[in-house]
Amino acid sequence: MKKTVFAVALVALGTAALAHGGVKNKDVMARMEVMKTIGDQMKIIGAMAKGEAAFDASAANDALTEIAAQSAQIGSLFETRADDPKSEALPAIWKDWEDFAHLASAAETTAEGLIGTVSAQAGLGPALGQLGGTCKACHSKYRK
Ligand code: HEC
Repeated sequence: MKKTVFAVALVALGTAALAHGGVKNKDVMARMEVMKTIGDQMKIIGAMAKGEAAFDASAANDALTEIAAQSAQIGSLFETRADDPKSEALPAIWKDWEDFAHLASAAETTAEGLIGTVSAQAGLGPALGQLGGTCKACHSKYRK
């Protein structure tokens, strides 16, 4: 079970560091920055879940709050199509915009719902699993 949770989280994080460099379009850069920030928060929670960092409930909840706040921007950042050779966004986003927007708000709602719920280290894995599911639902369709 734990393994699955981390696998999902890792898939969601993807190859962020590599994807980011050399982007010229500022709108593409802005949406990547938001994604990167979300990814960084997932890493904070992931490190605590794996025991690599000491459990800190308030830090975990701060990370969830940040994920919710950043996810709330996904819709507006992606709505106008912007392209860049370095972008991993698929054209289907603008073809199936309503579905994409729905997945973005699902990520926000999930993160929002988890804020304040994590009071022990054991709660981190399931929280990551739920969140990772929302990342994966979108990435599997709309990210290269
Ligand atoms: C509604 C769709 C959607 C959701 C939900 C979503 N993402 Fe993304 N994400 C994308 C798209 C599209 C890209 C590619 C953007 C680009 O390259 O232009 C991306 C890119 C990324 C990147 C790479 C950023 C970079 O520097 O290039 C990371 C990291 C990332 N997402 C993490 C996450 C995590 C973690 C979650 C869940 C907590 C998540 N995303 C939820 C659509 C989504």
